[in-house]
Amino acid sequence: MKLTDEQIAQFDRDGYLFFPGLFTRDEVRVLTGAVPALFAQRRPENVREKTGDVVRTNFAAHMYSEPFAKLARHPRMVEPVTQLFGEDVYMHQFKINGKAAFDGDVWQWHQDYGTWKNDDLMPEARAMNVAIFLDEVNEFNGPLMFIPGSHKLGVLEADHDTSTTSYPLWVINHETIRKLVDRGGIVAPKGVPGSMILFHGCLVHASTSNLSPWDRTSVYLSLCAVSNHIRRFKRPGYIAHRDFTPIRCLGDDCLRAPYDVELPWKDGTPRDELQGSAYGSI
Ligand code: SIN
Ligand code: MN
Repeated sequence: MKLTDEQIAQFDRDGYLFFPGLFTRDEVRVLTGAVPALFAQRRPENVREKTGDVVRTNFAAHMYSEPFAKLARHPRMVEPVTQLFGEDVYMHQFKINGKAAFDGDVWQWHQDYGTWKNDDLMPEARAMNVAIFLDEVNEFNGPLMFIPGSHKLGVLEADHDTSTTSYPLWVINHETIRKLVDRGGIVAPKGVPGSMILFHGCLVHASTSNLSPWDRTSVYLSLCAVSNHIRRFKRPGYIAHRDFTPIRCLGDDCLRAPYDVELPWKDGTPRDELQGSAYGSI
């Protein structure tokens, strides 16, 4: 899939592109069918909500689930990103966010590149976030919100919030958000399962809790330009990947046709991927 000049200009201006219904219902079913068994596993990659046993985010499913290993190599997702960066990409992070009915908690206002820079020593904001909806996203189940144009400001000051949710996050203060929204407003792309969003690593985003009776499961992938790979392995490897091998795409039919994919973490996470460690460039 190739982006048009107009889409490239729109991405540059707004910091995101929305592709409603990019994956078909049948393709999405292959993915959603695998989620309950993934969320039921007792492994460190499943981070649960504060309120109970509900999965907030599952990391690295592409290393141990066949449907998600295929999604991680899908040309409809990977090709526009290699086009924008002008080089091959590798998987920096892969997560499935549950945002479960009633229990799905907030994601405070933040930028992703702030964390990639400070924790992982990623040299530049040349990693793309991709969101793929596995459920319908509507105005009630905690859609992802963006402040258009906020990616132009680079890395903003952030504070480490370790108490609001079960997952510590570098968050942007309310005064800054007020100013950014005054100039850019807020948008929240909504749509059918299978819709995809590409968004810039510096785009400021958040989502509210999900008080509705509808789950809002979405996959979030971060694809980094290979030459821009992280320089420090401070976070566990299942959160910030250490394998910089370029992604080789499968065929466009990969979610519905048989393809051989490796599942190296099928029988468990390798011990050295579980711990953060300080080796690397410092
Ligand atoms: C994220 O920012 O990584 C996730 C946000 C969300 O799931 O709403
Ligand atoms: Mn984020």
